[in-house]
Amino acid sequence: MENLKKKLDNIEDYMIKMRRYFHQNPELSWKEVDTSKKIREELDDMKIEYKIIKETGVIGHIKGKLTGKRLGIRADIDALPVSEKTGLPFCSKNDGVMHACGHDAHIAILLGTAKLLNELKDELCGEVFLIFQPAEEYIQDSGAKYLSQVDEVKNLDRIIGLHIWGDIELGKASLNEGPIMASADTFDIYINGKSGHGATPHLSVDPIIAGVQLINSLQTIITRENNPLEPQVISVTAFNSGNSKNVIPKTAHLEGTTRAFNNSLRNRYKEEMQRVIDGVEKITRAKIELDYHDGTPATVNEKEATILGRKVAKEVFKDGFLEDYPMLMGGEDFAKYLLEIPGCFLLLGGAGEKGKVSQHSEKFDIDESALKLGAEYFVKYATEFLK
Ligand code: NI
Repeated sequence: MENLKKKLDNIEDYMIKMRRYFHQNPELSWKEVDTSKKIREELDDMKIEYKIIKETGVIGHIKGKLTGKRLGIRADIDALPVSEKTGLPFCSKNDGVMHACGHDAHIAILLGTAKLLNELKDELCGEVFLIFQPAEEYIQDSGAKYLSQVDEVKNLDRIIGLHIWGDIELGKASLNEGPIMASADTFDIYINGKSGHGATPHLSVDPIIAGVQLINSLQTIITRENNPLEPQVISVTAFNSGNSKNVIPKTAHLEGTTRAFNNSLRNRYKEEMQRVIDGVEKITRAKIELDYHDGTPATVNEKEATILGRKVAKEVFKDGFLEDYPMLMGGEDFAKYLLEIPGCFLLLGGAGEKGKVSQHSEKFDIDESALKLGAEYFVKYATEFLK
C-alpha cells in the first residue's frame, strides 16, 4: 500500500491539470462533444480501449490478467447553465456555462483512477469499466437512462460512484447503506376553464380558483396520507395565469417537483396526484390535465456494496469518515444504475478554501486535494473487489 501512496502522489498533478482543463471548457448536458473527445484522447494515451455511447458517452475497459467479476466506476461529465463568478485563473471560457457541480473533478478522478488501475491490471482478477456519463443534470432525459441499458453496464456485478460535496469538509466522506438521496420527478398541470368578466364569475369557470384548490389539496397527500416517518415533498414551483384586473382567464399552468426516499412511494405519486385532480375537476368544473415526468429514482445504496465501500472509505478517510451524514433531498441519476446493479455512491468532502459553497452556485469551487482521496477510494475499492 506504501506503493499505492506513491503512485497517487505521482498522478496528483495530472488530475489537477485535468480538472482545470475541464473546468475551463465546460459543456452542457448532451453537448459534451469536446469533453468527450478530450477523455478519449487521454484514454488513447493510456492505451485503454473504449466504446462511444450516445455520441458523448465513453466507456473505457481495463481487463485484468485473470478472469473474475466486473466492476463499473462512473463519473458524470456535464456542466450547468450558470455564469461563473469564482475569479479563478482557469475560470470557464464558455459564457453562461460552468462546472458548478464538480463534475470536472469527477472526470479528473476517474481518469486518474484509470491510469492507476491500468498500471495495476496484472494484479486484478476481473474487469473494470470506466463509465464517463453525459447529461446527469438533464433530469427529464438523463444520461444514466441510456448508459444503464448498454450491455457492458447491464452485465456488471457491481457499480460505484462518488460526488464531490461542497457542504462536507476536505478529508471527510460519507457512505451510508440504504437511501441517501431523494427521487426527483417533475410535472406540468394544465388547467382549462372558461374566461369571462371579473364581475360575473358565475358565467365563467375560473382556472385560478381550480389551481388554488389543487395546490392545497396536493399538499394533503403529504400531510394526511403519507406516513410522517417517510420524508416526502410535493412542491408547486410555478403558477401562471391571467394578465388583467377584470378578466377571468381561460387557462392556468402549474409546474413543480416531487421527492421521496422510498421508490415504492415515489411510484405512487402519479396516481395520487391524478386522484386529487379528478376531485378538483368535479368541484370546480375546470378540465385539468397532468403531465408527470419521470426524473430519477431515489439513490439507494446496496448492502454488500456499501459494506466494502465503508471498509475502504475508513482506510482512506480515517477519522474523517462520517458515520451519520443526513440524507439529501437532491436527486442524482446514479440511482438509475442502482435499480439494476448492486452498488453504492460516496459523498466526498471537497469544500473549497473559502469554506462551504453550495453545489450549483456561481461561486462553487472545490479543494483540489480531494482529487487524490477520490482516486484512492476508487482504486482501493477496485483492487479489493477484484482480488
Ligand atoms: Ni452533480
